[in-house]
Amino acid sequence: MAIQKVGVVGCGLMGHGIVQVAAQGGCTVVVLEAEQKFLDSGLGRIDKSLAKLAEKAVKDGKATEEEAKAKAAATRARISGTTSKQDLADCDLVIEAIVENLDAKKALFKELGALCKPSTIFASNTSSFPIGEMAIASGRPARFVGLHFFNPVQLMKLVEVVRTDITDAQVFEDAKAFGAACGKAPVACKDTPGFVVNRLLVPYMTEAMRMLERGDASAQDIDTAMKLGCGYPMGPIELTDYVGLDTTLFIVEGWTKRYPNEPAFQVPKILRDLVAQKKLGRKTGEGFYKWEGDKRA
Ligand SMILES: NC(=O)c1ccc[n+]([C@@H]2O[C@H](COP(=O)([O-])OP(=O)(O)OC[C@H]3O[C@@H](n4cnc5c(N)ncnc54)[C@H](O)[C@@H]3O)[C@@H](O)[C@H]2O)c1
Repeated sequence: MAIQKVGVVGCGLMGHGIVQVAAQGGCTVVVLEAEQKFLDSGLGRIDKSLAKLAEKAVKDGKATEEEAKAKAAATRARISGTTSKQDLADCDLVIEAIVENLDAKKALFKELGALCKPSTIFASNTSSFPIGEMAIASGRPARFVGLHFFNPVQLMKLVEVVRTDITDAQVFEDAKAFGAACGKAPVACKDTPGFVVNRLLVPYMTEAMRMLERGDASAQDIDTAMKLGCGYPMGPIELTDYVGLDTTLFIVEGWTKRYPNEPAFQVPKILRDLVAQKKLGRKTGEGFYKWEGDKRA
């Protein structure tokens, strides 16, 4: 594989998972955080996750305790942390997984573009911003892709690999090969709002909210209908609570600004109202439903 050394920027919810799956895929990984305490906490999450994985391998009879521990240790040995951007200079691929703020992402790629070796491929894990804007900011737009992983990264099997009109064909192939090496099924997509999954999923969630607003059906009945009628594990209202109402609002508002005439990208009033009341879903204990931890009350 062309990609051997990977840099990941941000070791939060998504970043720590990306670091882990890249190391499990055999890559050497350097993860950059803004502060040492965030780095420590992200690396701590990886240690826990690797220990759990080893435990499961033993329980499932796939490895002896010794083998499982050795495998986890070998994966961990491929990971190092840093707070200095300079340590990413010789990476074959740098994946950005910092906060969802376009200006912050563009500023980061501008800096990385100036310090990384010319062959370094850049990727963003953004859920909602145009890849093309970051590609231009990096100063090397042909060597830029989207690599959109899903939460939790260690478990979710999909990665969307996103190309702009000027992404180099070989860069795109290398990015897909990297996704596969991470144990994911790479799907190819053009640089369009929401790529494949969120472009279909978010309007589905907002349409369910509009049904609720109009009084067409109750939240429970909408969710039951989609679970039993379509075989989905969760209905759209429950799913919005699970994802977070603020996160959903942020994505739709961004699209509304960029594509004001697209009916599928309008914000339902109920979503705005609940966010204003700080009812953000599972994480605050209440959204459309009440929650106790990860379970509906
Ligand atoms: N949370 C999800 O379900 C999900 C799913 C797919 C994609 N994404 C995308 O992944 C990205 C990260 O999301 P997250 O949920 O992991 O966020 P998070 O807040 O958990 O993690 C972001 C991390 O980036 C670090 N950071 C911020 N600025 C930095 C900088 N300049 N340099 C180094 N580190 C920096 C922060 O300290 C933090 O640890 C976002 O673009 C988000 O849209 C999120």
